[in-house]
Amino acid sequence: MKTTTLYDGHHRWIAFGRDTEKPEKIIDTNQYLVVDGKRALLMDPGGIEIFSAMLASVLRFTDIEHITDLFASHQDPDIISSLGLWDQTLPHARLHAPWIWEGFLRHFGINHIEYVPLPDEGTTLTLEQAELQFIPAHYLHAPGNFHVYDPVARILMSGDVGTALEPEGAPMFVEDFEAHTARMKTFHQRWMPSNKAKQDWINRVRTLDISILAPQHGRIFRGDDVKRFLDWFEALDVGIAVE
Ligand SMILES: [Fe+2]
Ligand SMILES: [Fe+2]
Repeated sequence: MKTTTLYDGHHRWIAFGRDTEKPEKIIDTNQYLVVDGKRALLMDPGGIEIFSAMLASVLRFTDIEHITDLFASHQDPDIISSLGLWDQTLPHARLHAPWIWEGFLRHFGINHIEYVPLPDEGTTLTLEQAELQFIPAHYLHAPGNFHVYDPVARILMSGDVGTALEPEGAPMFVEDFEAHTARMKTFHQRWMPSNKAKQDWINRVRTLDISILAPQHGRIFRGDDVKRFLDWFEALDVGIAVE
């Protein structure tokens, strides 16, 4: 599992991805970890298939008892089908996830972890000092969906928004935005169902100061590419599979 540090200040952001060990037909995913002293938040920890690789990778950056919080942006298997295994590994952790998915996510097996239901309007989570915001991203693509914003690191973890379908071993960062749009277009048109929801999210996200937009698949956007992505997404007609 490749690891990339996105922010290294009082707290740290680390991205995990490009798992060379993963089975071939499984979509590649990016996982994110915030480490803040003796507290850590693991975001969209991934599927059952990558659990052992993720656990080994995460433990290079924090102790197991310091992983106090998990986050699931939505209910998909590539996001959180590992939940039952984390439940056995981190019995004292809390899972922050959309309230509407609680009855569904419990099918992955929660016997120990506390499910903290996120209200539709979002909320905040303070680790030791880092204050993270759960930003509503409903219908992008799931009907209950959140992103995570860190105003100090100026990072928005954007779940499936910003996804690109890449060949194996692609670089972690966008280098040529125009070329990159070809790998994002069909995914966003098919998986994002609502132009109205898209515009609502764009309006909200434009008020945030973002230097890194970090999606769950594909490459990470930095600097001016964040604005380029928002402009591109705003202009894209989504939810068009039935036309
Ligand atoms: Fe998804
Ligand atoms: Fe995904």
